[in-house]
Amino acid sequence: MTEVAFLGLGVMGYPMAGHLQRAGHRVQVWNRTRAKADAWCAQHGGQPATSPADAARSASIVLTCVGRDDDLESVVLGPDGILAGLRPGSLLIDHSTVSATLSRRLAAMLQEAGCGFVDAPVSGGQQGAINGQLSIFCGGSDSDVARAAPVLAAYARAQAHVGPSGSGQLAKMVNQICVAGVLQGLSEGMHFAQRAGLDVAQVMALVGQGAGSSWQLINRHATMIADQYDHGFAVDWMRKDLDIVLAEAAGLGLSLPGTEHVNDCYRAVQALGGGRWDTSSLLKALQAQTPDHTPPGNPS
Ligand SMILES: NC(=O)c1ccc[n+]([C@@H]2O[C@H](COP(=O)([O-])OP(=O)(O)OC[C@H]3O[C@@H](n4cnc5c(N)ncnc54)[C@H](OP(=O)(O)O)[C@@H]3O)[C@@H](O)[C@H]2O)c1
Repeated sequence: MTEVAFLGLGVMGYPMAGHLQRAGHRVQVWNRTRAKADAWCAQHGGQPATSPADAARSASIVLTCVGRDDDLESVVLGPDGILAGLRPGSLLIDHSTVSATLSRRLAAMLQEAGCGFVDAPVSGGQQGAINGQLSIFCGGSDSDVARAAPVLAAYARAQAHVGPSGSGQLAKMVNQICVAGVLQGLSEGMHFAQRAGLDVAQVMALVGQGAGSSWQLINRHATMIADQYDHGFAVDWMRKDLDIVLAEAAGLGLSLPGTEHVNDCYRAVQALGGGRWDTSSLLKALQAQTPDHTPPGNPS
């Protein structure tokens, strides 16, 4: 049994912390909005920590899953933050999707404090977190990543050490570039099918058994047809991720025109009020941009 603390009980963190407890670890949770920590403790037992520093004091391994760079910085470095409570020899594992620059900076600060750090962003979405089937991209030293691995096994379908600090975030950026392109293609394909008067469900079922298949198609096409977006991975988070990707690409002297275009399409979804909609809502932006058109020979 390891004494762990989990900070950030959102869509992802809440079920992930539950898996840690079911795997036999002693888990103390903290969440900025206390009600979520109370709900978690009512379900799994224990008492919420009163601050990130308080949570860190009780644990040898501390895990975070918060929002963007600023959020992680305040949780780790704030006046009552993790660093203020972390005992020397402890390990911080961060599951948030943030910049590689911040991950490297935190790793250096923690090393100075005699602690370890692993950047460990995840892929697999809300369903992957609930089912304990996440892919985890780990960046850090050999010894820190080896120490993290048995803990992460509680909710990992796959995990790998991809390089030194920051590399986990770089690998997650690759994931987001791929996901952005897949979702744009899926949305355009479904938009085309609708406007061409095809039976979209029938066509997508067939495409899903051929070379055009994808996780997004299999798991999202039915909800897209039903115009349901109140689930999954929020557009605001994808915008954050693609901004991080494009800044990193610019630093590498790379142009990613497809990713830039998808980022603009997500801006359009945000303008429709869809910041918290699932990322498959790219279809909504296409529908809003193109006036209704019934093709000749296809009665509405
Ligand atoms: N959802 C997905 O499918 C998915 C998949 C892969 C990666 N991720 C990444 O995982 C992270 C969390 O995503 P999520 O979907 O779980 O988000 P979420 O449901 O919006 O939850 C965010 C969590 O972070 C906390 N938080 C945010 N800002 C904070 C701050 N300044 N100080 C303290 N706590 C703060 C929130 O606390 P409150 O409850 O007080 O708001 C909440 O617990 C993000 O970096 C996201 O990009 C998400």
